[in-house]
Amino acid sequence: MQDFNAEVISKCTDRVFQLNGTTGTLLYGSWDELKRNDSLRSCFDVIIMSETLYNVQYYESLFEMIEHCLAPGGIVIVGTKTFYYGLGGGLFELDRFLKDRYTGKP
Ligand SMILES: C[S@@+](CC[C@H](N)C(=O)[O-])C[C@H]1O[C@@H](n2cnc3c(N)ncnc32)[C@H](O)[C@@H]1O
Repeated sequence: MQDFNAEVISKCTDRVFQLNGTTGTLLYGSWDELKRNDSLRSCFDVIIMSETLYNVQYYESLFEMIEHCLAPGGIVIVGTKTFYYGLGGGLFELDRFLKDRYTGKP
């Protein structure tokens, strides 16, 4: 589980884990930091995220982080709105970004 904000992780996510008797790894920090963390290289078979596509300006860092952390053959599951009014991100911008970034690449 990851969030930008350390307090969210320590005061909310960790508490939810405790209440449910769940164990797992809790990470905080920016996507830019995570993509420089060697211990996370190709670490995850599945990455699940929601409400992370609201701002197109963040897509580069988000996808660099995904490329760093996702294992070969891994999948990413995304929950998003079609369009974030006022911010410009969403499904259409994701589609445009992915075509620009990955078309013609293996
Ligand atoms: C709108 S909240 C969604 C929270 C939660 N995933 C949900 O669906 O309720 C956006 C999330 O993206 C994370 N986020 C946004 N920009 C980030 C960045 N540059 N680096 C790391 N996390 C970021 C924030 O910490 C926040 O948890």
